[in-house]
Amino acid sequence: MTEAWRPDDDRPRGSLGPVRVKAPAKINLHLGVGPVRPDGFHELNTVYHAISIHDELTARRGDTLTLTMEGEGAGQLALDDSNLVIRAARALAGHAGVPAHARLHLRKRIPLAAGLAGGSADAAAALVACDALWGTGLSRDELAAIAATLGSDVPFLVHGGTALGTGRGEVVSPVLARPTTWHWVVAVADGGLSTPQVYAELDRLRGTATAPTPRGSADALLAALRQRDPRVLAEALGNDLQPAAVSLRPELAEVLKAGRAEGALAGIVSGSGPTCVFLAADGEDAERLAAGLTAAGVCRAAHPAHGPVPGARTS
Ligand code: C5P
Repeated sequence: MTEAWRPDDDRPRGSLGPVRVKAPAKINLHLGVGPVRPDGFHELNTVYHAISIHDELTARRGDTLTLTMEGEGAGQLALDDSNLVIRAARALAGHAGVPAHARLHLRKRIPLAAGLAGGSADAAAALVACDALWGTGLSRDELAAIAATLGSDVPFLVHGGTALGTGRGEVVSPVLARPTTWHWVVAVADGGLSTPQVYAELDRLRGTATAPTPRGSADALLAALRQRDPRVLAEALGNDLQPAAVSLRPELAEVLKAGRAEGALAGIVSGSGPTCVFLAADGEDAERLAAGLTAAGVCRAAHPAHGPVPGARTS
């Protein structure tokens, strides 16, 4: 349990026991990519959506800052100061003026470099977990401000739900719609794609005669969400990075085709890929679709999921 700390307390500040935080993967229901900015980032107009595939971070008291990891992609990620989890813990400690002492353990289920923002989810989890462990008591907005220094998607993963992202993606405002659960199938590919390479490929495609038209504002998607009908939402889903991801990994076109053949209402590449996500009419339909995609053998794994779900939270 996290104990609220007050200046007149002589109790130790923060939590003595382990703090467990679950952080969700994200998909982009709409990803409008604008021009490159002077800082090298692209101006975005995106609708983020947090889904029910989670990583779990456990934070324990320690004398130094350490990170261990199990699950998806363990052994493929450096666990040193280059890791986003360690950078998040250090950023929070620096902001709050506390020593960055914790033993962090990550159980990964979100695949790496998949377009599902797994690394950003882990950074959001580290901020929430260390805030509770150290009793630094920051608000979600304060944590999101630190998150923005770590990566474009990290502030959204502190908040979760469904939200509009602008700027380079770090300016997040919640989408206030009547609660609706959407059902998805997440088709995970073998191997990852590098986000900077996918953006660079989009820039290259935009310089060619067959440049894809930018989709711009998210208004149509936001209007579709308000109708609460998956068939209407299916028509509005779209991702400007999709042609770039498919150009780098042509087999993704087969995955998208297979999803439609199995009865998905729509399919898009998730973020910078290579994961593809499919919209299903309901939970049962998602189970059927996931089984069909698995049997078709076009992806490494296909998981049913739903959204929206909350951002990084203690569990
Ligand atoms: O912010 P984040 O670390 O997730 O960005 C990773 C890379 O993706 C950036 O270095 C940049 O190449 C690309 N990117 C971009 N425009 C954005 C977000 C990311 O070009 N809005």
